[in-house]
Parts: sequence; structure tokens; C-alpha cells
Amino acid sequence: MKINTLKLVNFRNYEKVNLNFKSNLNIIYGNNGVGKTNLVEAIYALSLTKSFRTNVDKNLIKMGEVSTKIEGEVETDTVNNYQVIISKEGKKVKINQNIISKISEYITNINIVLLEPEEQMILKSSPQSRRRLLNIEISQLKKDYIILLNNYNKLLKQRNFYLRELYINGNASQEYLNILTEKLVTYGLKIYELREEFINNINEFITKKYHDIFEDGELFIKYNSDYKNKSKDDLLNVYKKNYNREIVMGKTLLGIHHDDILFMLDNKNIAEWGSNGQQKNAILAFKLSEIEIIYKEKGTQPIFILDDLFSALDNYKIKNIVEILNKDIQTFITTTDINRIDEKLLENALVLNVSTDGIKEG
Ligand SMILES: Nc1ncnc2c1ncn2[C@@H]1O[C@H](COP(=O)(O)OP(=O)(O)OP(=O)(O)O)[C@@H](O)[C@H]1O
Ligand SMILES: [Mg+2]
Repeated sequence: MKINTLKLVNFRNYEKVNLNFKSNLNIIYGNNGVGKTNLVEAIYALSLTKSFRTNVDKNLIKMGEVSTKIEGEVETDTVNNYQVIISKEGKKVKINQNIISKISEYITNINIVLLEPEEQMILKSSPQSRRRLLNIEISQLKKDYIILLNNYNKLLKQRNFYLRELYINGNASQEYLNILTEKLVTYGLKIYELREEFINNINEFITKKYHDIFEDGELFIKYNSDYKNKSKDDLLNVYKKNYNREIVMGKTLLGIHHDDILFMLDNKNIAEWGSNGQQKNAILAFKLSEIEIIYKEKGTQPIFILDDLFSALDNYKIKNIVEILNKDIQTFITTTDINRIDEKLLENALVLNVSTDGIKEG
């Protein structure tokens, strides 16, 4: 899959942008703060309808303006026009000018794999950020996933609310708690299965990818979940046992909202003992595995974005990575330092220079 063109109106620091991309390598360079990441952020948002840098959509609107439009032609078997329009009233997405009301129908179309410096902290940060990583990746692959997740989260809220109700009003019916629990477990198990399948798929590739980047060791992702190896009946029993404690605490103690993934190198958690470099390489290996999974499931290569190349990767690995990447993968790289990039790579690439004067080729 390739993005052929990108048009922006009032996106971040850009009033108007009109770009044609190459189907292989696209390099965006320029000084700090000129808007390089903004460009790849736009490509990401065209695919996932939201940014990787902010949860607040309206931050994407150029300051002083009321709306922004991201538009691109993306080629798979056919060429289709995609649009994401964000205004103060909300967000609209279109495929070939038709409004798509279900986000799940939209975000499974353009597959993106992104590597950026902030995400490399993910191993050390909260379980929530690692769940977020899982959610983003799986929702690009499985249409049902985001629907299941929304349903689960709604039920979780209702259930927590009702637990507090039971605490206050001892006469409230426990029957309703049974119903909410049963539904929660039903959705939770489906989410668990999709997450487990995704992690198993990653594990099929990740050690090999880790070795490709010149590192020894066995890398695998360990999936921790309250739902692991439990049937629906097992889970309902466990929940029942916890009812009283949950009522006192006013929240649901078990569930896939506590899931976590650990990056294990030679059976030890990298987050706890691995070096910085090992953590970066583990994330890189994860992302390279994802490319394989998308290819396996979708039959097409995703678009690969490497934001801030030299922060994301060590110098000596860069050539390596570009060689590992299948020639068929459209890749976007941003950097401040074009001189550090191998001449050979530049030869066949589209090179865009971003400055305060705008975006120029060459
Ligand atoms: N909503 C907005 N409206 C106008 N300008 C914005 C908006 N959001 C961000 N900017 C501007 O965009 C610029 C940052 O762009 P970006 O993060 O793409 O820079 P960069 O080229 O990637 O820099 P670096 O090399 O430091 O990563 C900043 O100058 C910021 O003020
Ligand atoms: Mg940047």
C-alpha cells in the first residue's frame, strides 16, 4: 500500500500543502521545529483519524483557524481518496467522498507502522500505554476490535457505577450485577482472544527481527492478563468471589483493562534490567514484526514511518534497517541531519527539504 499524494489545509503550522510521494523511500529533512513531524503526523492521522502526539484532535487545527482537512490518495489494488476533516464540531472521515460513520470501517484501510522517539519509552512507562499500543495495532487489523473495546469500556463504567450503588444502597439487586458481569466477561474474553492472537503472531517473528538488527538473545512478548487460561465459567466464579470486595472498593478488580505486555529478553524483563539500546531495539523488532503480520493478514505492505531517524536508531543500524525493509515498503523518514544519510539511499529517494519558506524538493 502506498500513499501517492497528500493535501493539507490548515494543518498544524501549514496553511496549504500539496505533495506527491515516491513509492519507496521519502526523506523529509530540515531544522528543528520547522514541521517535519507534522507531515508524518498528517499521514498517520489520515490513516488512524488521530495523532500519535496528542489526544486532542483540535490541536491539529492551525492556530487561529476553525478546521483542518487531511486528504490523500492511497493505492492498494485500487486508488482511493481518503479524507479526515476536523473542526470544532468534531471529526468527519470520507472514502471517495462518502462519509463513513463507523470509525472501524475506516481505520482498517490504511495500515501504518510508526517508529518515533517517544514511543521508545513505552517499555518503562505505564501498562496503560502498552495497552494503547496493542489497541492501536489490533484495531488496524480487526474491524470488530474497536467496537468490542468500546462496548467493554462502557460496561466497565456501568459496572463500576453499579458497584458504588450497591455499596450505598444495600437493597439494590445483585441480579443486575450478575448481568453486567456476564456481559463484561463476554466482551472481555473476545478482546483477550484477539490480543492473544496478535501477540502470538508477533512472537513468531520478533526474535528473528531482533537478530536481524545484530543483537543476540531470545526476545519474546509476554502477555499478562487476568483472563489467561480461564473459561467463561471460571471467570464468572472468580468475579462472584470478589463481589463483596468490589462493592467496598467501588471498582471492577479483574479484567482486560489491567492487561499488560512485557518485553522479555532471555526470559528477563527488559524494562527492568535492559540497557537503553536494548529497549530501543526491542521496540524496533516489535515494529518490524508488525510489518510482517500486516503483510500476512492483509496481503499488502503497510506504510512505514520513522520519525526522527537518528534518535530512533543508532547510526550503524540505519543502513541495516533500510536493507531489511522489503523494497516494496513505502517508507517515510524525518531527520535534521541529511548529511548523515548514506548517499546510496538518497539516490532513489524523494528528498524533501522543510524550512520556514515551505517544502521544497531536493
Ligand atoms: N496547531 C498549530 N498551529 C500552528 N502551528 C503549530 C501547531 N501545532 C504545532 N505547531 C508548530 O509546529 C512546529 C513543530 O513542528 P514539528 O514538530 O513538525 O517540528 P519538527 O520539524 O519535527 O522539529 P524537530 O526536528 O524538533 O522534531 C512548531 O513550531 C509549532 O509551533
Ligand atoms: Mg520532529
